[in-house]
Amino acid sequence: MKKLFIVANWKSHKTTSGAVEWLLFFKDRPIPEGKEIILCVPFTLLSVCAFFIHEHNLSFEVGSQDISLFEEGSYTGEINAGQIKEFADYVLLGHSEREKYFGETRDTVEKKAKQAQIVSLQTILCVPNAETAIPENTPIIAYEPPSAIGSGLPDTSDNAELVAIKIKNNQGVHVVLYGGSVTSENVASFTQSSHIDGVLVGKASLDPEEFLRIIEHA
Ligand code: PGA
Repeated sequence: MKKLFIVANWKSHKTTSGAVEWLLFFKDRPIPEGKEIILCVPFTLLSVCAFFIHEHNLSFEVGSQDISLFEEGSYTGEINAGQIKEFADYVLLGHSEREKYFGETRDTVEKKAKQAQIVSLQTILCVPNAETAIPENTPIIAYEPPSAIGSGLPDTSDNAELVAIKIKNNQGVHVVLYGGSVTSENVASFTQSSHIDGVLVGKASLDPEEFLRIIEHA
């Protein structure tokens, strides 16, 4: 059976108490075998989530939602890959909201991916289509059509599968996830495809009960 990745993207949501409440929900609820759950949380919650998960032996991995394109140095306000690696093994890069609201270019994303590689942070790279260039050795791709993000209008599972196949064939990638309006109702339609290796979940990951249903139905 293939391993499924289920990635939560909390975006700019939750404070410490909300994060702890969310994590507490999973304390006595084991994660089914074969499912790797990665929580991409705001910078301010990385340490609290990492410590809580370790303390309570939860089966979650931690990821950040961005990193600096520079290494350590005089870059006020930036958080570099090495600083993230203290708490997390994953980083989400190239999310379309970074382009839409912060003008991030693919060139910048590529530089960030290089920084991630230097410290062995695993990149989950978001791409809007199968044609987007993917930096060499990127371990995980998340296909996210911008029209599906936060809209309640997910891609069809047939199209998502076609895009995943194209990405794998053309860009030599082995792990492709689907993201965009994933819920517990539609998750299985994506994960049942042998070419889709999991999902990236935004809004529906904020509610622990719904996120657990997604994990169970995937
Ligand atoms: P959504 O977000 O699940 O709320 O559509 C997905 C994402 O932006 O990664």
